[in-house]
Amino acid sequence: MVDYGERYAATCAACHGSEGRSELPLVPSLAGQHSFYVITQLFLFRDGRRNDHPLSAAMSALAKGLSDADLRGYSEAIARLPAAALAAVPLEQASPPRDVARFERGRQLAAAHRCGSCHGADLAGGGQVPRLGGQREDYLQIALKGFQGGTRLGYTPAMNEALSGLKANDLEDLAHYLAQSLNNGQ
Ligand code: HEC
Ligand code: HEC
Repeated sequence: MVDYGERYAATCAACHGSEGRSELPLVPSLAGQHSFYVITQLFLFRDGRRNDHPLSAAMSALAKGLSDADLRGYSEAIARLPAAALAAVPLEQASPPRDVARFERGRQLAAAHRCGSCHGADLAGGGQVPRLGGQREDYLQIALKGFQGGTRLGYTPAMNEALSGLKANDLEDLAHYLAQSLNNGQ
């Protein structure tokens, strides 16, 4: 039987971190991400449909060689990486230090636009909805701009709709708030 925890360590950890906490600019952390969300994203990469990030091609090239069983195995191995790893380094290493005014503005935007209604009040996500709290700020900025500009097509159009009406600096403040919100938005 293939051990996907070992395959993750050999193939994915160089970019995403051995515990799923990315220390590379623009590369997302995967710790605490949900298996259903992960498998849908791996499908999108394998199909070449997630391609709006400067490094998408590297991720797609890897996904192209994976079987359905591989996608399942990796998504289950990733779901076993504890979210607590995201807190294991000072946040400043992954994201800029907290700016109190921007954090507060991001918090209010998230409340007004009801991000928690799908992503959870604690921003931990679930099922096909990704965890956001503690994700890298640089990656979140690209993801939000991609959904809003229509270049990142989700598995569902939920996100493209959720961001309509928000301005570029709103998205930056939202990314700042989410990156700093590992526990219950605090
Ligand atoms: C060369 C570096 C690199 C390697 C190796 C790599 N990835 Fe990625 N991965 C990325 C980048 C960059 C992104 C973001 C791409 C984008 O948003 O289009 C990403 C995105 C992802 C995502 C989506 C995360 C999210 O929050 O939406 C998943 C899941 C993922 N990778 C799984 C894997 C798995 C499983 C492996 C090993 C088989 C792997 N990656 C190997 C660079 C890498
Ligand atoms: C109606 C439900 C819903 C609402 C409301 C919603 N989201 Fe999402 N969000 C999703 C789903 C589903 C996905 C996964 C999309 C896909 O299939 O690729 C997602 C993905 C994301 C991602 C990508 C994460 C990653 O790891 O790549 C970010 C960032 C995000 N949402 C932020 C937000 C913010 C900020 C708000 C509020 C302004 C919000 N979402 C509101 C359902 C929602």
